[in-house]
Amino acid sequence: MGCFFCWIVVSFQRGIAREIEAQNKWAQRVEMSYFFVLSADDALLRSPSSSRTRTSMRPTLALQVRGGGLGLLMCSHLPRKSVVPAPLSRRAVPIYRPNHSPYYVGLDRVREDPYDRVANPHGVIQLGLSDNKLCLDLIEDWMSKHFESSAIGGGDFAMYQPFDGMPEMKLAMAGFMSKVLGGTLSFDPSNVVLTAGATPAIEILCFCLADHGNAFLVPTPYYPGFDRDMTWRTGVEVIPVHCRSADSFTLSITALDQAFDQAMKKGLKVSGVLISNPSNPVGNLLSRDMLCNLLEFAREKNIHIISDEIFAGSVHGDAEFVSMLEILDLVEYDKGRVHVVYGLSKDLSVAGFRVGAIHSYNEDVLAASKKLTRFSSISSLTQRLLVPMLTDSGFINTFLGTNRDRSRETYKLFVEGLEQLGVNYLDSVAGSYCWVDMGGFMSSYSEKGELELWEKLLEVSKVNATPGSACHCAEPGWFRCCFTTILKDDIPVVMDRINKVAKLCKHAR
Ligand SMILES: Cc1ncc(COP(=O)(O)O)c(C=O)c1O
Repeated sequence: MGCFFCWIVVSFQRGIAREIEAQNKWAQRVEMSYFFVLSADDALLRSPSSSRTRTSMRPTLALQVRGGGLGLLMCSHLPRKSVVPAPLSRRAVPIYRPNHSPYYVGLDRVREDPYDRVANPHGVIQLGLSDNKLCLDLIEDWMSKHFESSAIGGGDFAMYQPFDGMPEMKLAMAGFMSKVLGGTLSFDPSNVVLTAGATPAIEILCFCLADHGNAFLVPTPYYPGFDRDMTWRTGVEVIPVHCRSADSFTLSITALDQAFDQAMKKGLKVSGVLISNPSNPVGNLLSRDMLCNLLEFAREKNIHIISDEIFAGSVHGDAEFVSMLEILDLVEYDKGRVHVVYGLSKDLSVAGFRVGAIHSYNEDVLAASKKLTRFSSISSLTQRLLVPMLTDSGFINTFLGTNRDRSRETYKLFVEGLEQLGVNYLDSVAGSYCWVDMGGFMSSYSEKGELELWEKLLEVSKVNATPGSACHCAEPGWFRCCFTTILKDDIPVVMDRINKVAKLCKHAR
């Protein structure tokens, strides 16, 4: 017959209750059935065999039978709140901690106080998120006409569907990608894995191509989300490859070589290079030559390439986008090391629908990615809705053409406004942002000077722009300003607000 112990401790101080709680371990060793700690304001009932604290039991009489004994407990007040919080994993700690990057702080400020010309004219103007609102009217119009016929009927789509995408959606997505990434390219849907956005596509690839602690080289300035998306769950490290204003922030193989060597010196194994082409935040394109050189670099170092081409259909300038897949089609190459990421958040302005894709020729990567989409699949309803939209060639051609025209016009108005203020910018041809040099307004040529200016823009003028340091830009003073999040009538308001800060900075000197 086992033994039974019952402890009843009445404490009027939480500290004492906590001390007794620590003895819980001892209680486990002696087969104690239940360990009762009661404090006047905050009582606690805990089973040694479970780390969960019962918080809402309020019996006046508690009876426990375990280990061959019987225990009786009388009390007038039982627990409401645990004294010692149950610990979280070490993995969760850096994630739940608040992120003080100006990128996230700025987004939070807009969320608290969003600008609206009529409803909130003194709110914060959003230039810090690459959302595209320029053609939402076209999406809404299509939806209003086709929603019912696309989404309703044939209820079997409400059942489980392949997590890596329904066959008809893969076909539709392959067709759209072939149009956007390069008209001559044809995509085999069997090389495509669908994901809930480009974000999980990137994460899945990092997971498949690199081990925990391995590194990816990423040319700077880069999209601030990579720091989170590539690393949080995979444990992969990001090594910035610094590009300079003197080269219009274009990538060079010399910079890649240097970053590779530095990573090796730190004892890091480099698993690949991730490029964003068209580049977010600069809005430039990689040339054919550069793409070929990159392939050569990857072959020489025996590493992978992830080419994030999510803005491929958002070229508004006079330049030709060349996909990495087009180069692969032309040259004799080990295709298994090149993986393309795409998504509909930007080119089709449906970021909220969460649609992304991985294109790879590597059978093992495809097999692993398909299984991993279990954690990031697109809802079948969304797929049902998008198949007819993506295959409606009349709509798609109109949308892409209108988006290009409106982006071109808004970009032109935006940079004209900057020119009138005497602010420099880098000519960009793609994406929904402008890479602006506000270094002239800084109190000092340093990251500190840049962040002071960012704060003035945000708090004094209520403009949320992303400072270059959040994109790991090596040179202070550059800001990413998204111009597709505002209406063209709001551009003069933005310029007035930037001008206000410019004057303030001049006075301060
Ligand atoms: C370069 C780049 N890649 C990936 C993403 C993530 O896209 P998604 O909304 O499809 O997850 C973004 C979003 O801004 C981006 O700019």
